Amino acid sequence: MDRNESCLSATDRMIDMMDVGVFAVDRELHVRSWNAFMVAHAGKGRREVLGRSIFEVFPELPRSWLQKKFDRVFALGAPSFTSWEQRPWLFRLPHNRPITGGVDCMQQDTRLVPLKNGDGEVALVLVCVFDVTDAAMLQRRLAETVTALEAERAEQQKLIARLAEAQEQLVQSEKLAAIGQLAAGVAHEINNPVGFVMSNFRSLEQYLDGAFALVEAFDRHIDLLPDAARTAIEKLKSDMDYEFVADDARSLVAESRDGLERVKRIVADLRDFSRVGETDWQWASVHGCLDSTLNVVMNEIKYKAQVVKDYGELPQIECMPFQLNQVFLNLLVNAAQAIEGQGSITLRTRAEAEQVVIQIADTGCGMPPDVLRRIFDPFFTTKPVGKGTGLGLSVTHSIIGRHHGSIAVDSTPGQGTTFTLRLPVRQAAAQSTADREVQAA
Ligand SMILES: Nc1ncnc2c1ncn2[C@@H]1O[C@H](COP(=O)(O)OP(=O)(O)OP(=O)(O)O)[C@@H](O)[C@H]1O
Ligand SMILES: [Mg+2]
Repeated sequence: MDRNESCLSATDRMIDMMDVGVFAVDRELHVRSWNAFMVAHAGKGRREVLGRSIFEVFPELPRSWLQKKFDRVFALGAPSFTSWEQRPWLFRLPHNRPITGGVDCMQQDTRLVPLKNGDGEVALVLVCVFDVTDAAMLQRRLAETVTALEAERAEQQKLIARLAEAQEQLVQSEKLAAIGQLAAGVAHEINNPVGFVMSNFRSLEQYLDGAFALVEAFDRHIDLLPDAARTAIEKLKSDMDYEFVADDARSLVAESRDGLERVKRIVADLRDFSRVGETDWQWASVHGCLDSTLNVVMNEIKYKAQVVKDYGELPQIECMPFQLNQVFLNLLVNAAQAIEGQGSITLRTRAEAEQVVIQIADTGCGMPPDVLRRIFDPFFTTKPVGKGTGLGLSVTHSIIGRHHGSIAVDSTPGQGTTFTLRLPVRQAAAQSTADREVQAA
């Protein structure tokens, strides 16, 4: 045995000890060496395979594909490989793990390494088969776990969205209930004194009429009085400017009666507001809702804005009027709050096919796009702490949604904002259109 041979056999022994399948094939793809790993895992001894084509040893090999791969390695002298991720196995070798997870044979990475002779030609190709079954199974389990986690995460996102919606509804109904209670309390407190002031006022008016009639009767007979008495009475009348007082008293009474009527109307509107929590569908007039809401918020508006009404002809609509009041209240208060000095708020209405269109336009500060994007988000506010909770528009949005309507906003910073609401006249028609859309989607 020369030095080279002993060297070679030392290399062979080393290859034999490796925990990797290694065998060599020649240009005809006949097996020329076969290490112990291959003996153990292929269940075929050296004598059985040496000199035979690998397609005989492994009849299940993808013949033309593999032939091309070997041809390239022989021609180019560059290594080639296959990975378990693209091709889980090339050689059907059993593996010694319990068979689980759809893995029924050894998962493998394979390398084809060219071995050149002294002339620099590729004489043999070394086929190295790496057992990656453990890693592959682990990676598959990991991928399955990631898929399951992602599905769970998607479920959680849905749950969070549902929770946020439920919370918004809860906050909204609490807010409505609080406003309702407050309004009911105030309305009740004001209603009683207004009631007796009005009744007293009616009596006072009658007494005044009587008193003036009495004075007029005296006037008619004043000539019958002695001179001294007549002069004294005329002086008294002139000192007190009787003609003016008599005239002014009548207009004071008329004006005050008007004022009391207005208070009565506001109290009635406030009582309407105490029913904001009511969710009965009714046929109601949008103009009626707008006007009674205006009455309630007029105090907040009148010093800043002139209210212009540009009402069209509207049919009654099927709605929850107390909730629409809430919508108009939110939009009107926002409009008033957006006006810094003096401005105007225009209420425009028109009927359009089976819808009514309501616009509330202000000449206030307007909104930049980054605010505009978020105005319907619950708790989004640009107002100082204590002034805004950021719920007005999110409540408005859900009420309009419940009415199967839509809300659009158009705003220019420094010029003003217009909210456009569209509400269906009939709910049944709107509901079936919405259902059809859901089904189509
Ligand atoms: N007409 C408007 N003009 C300018 N900005 C507006 C107008 N309406 C709404 N906004 C902006 O949208 C934000 C959200 O409005 P929203 O009514 O939801 O809450 P808020 O008015 O801040 O508080 P809340 O109504 O709960 O008291 C406001 O803070 C404001 O920045
Ligand atoms: Mg608001």
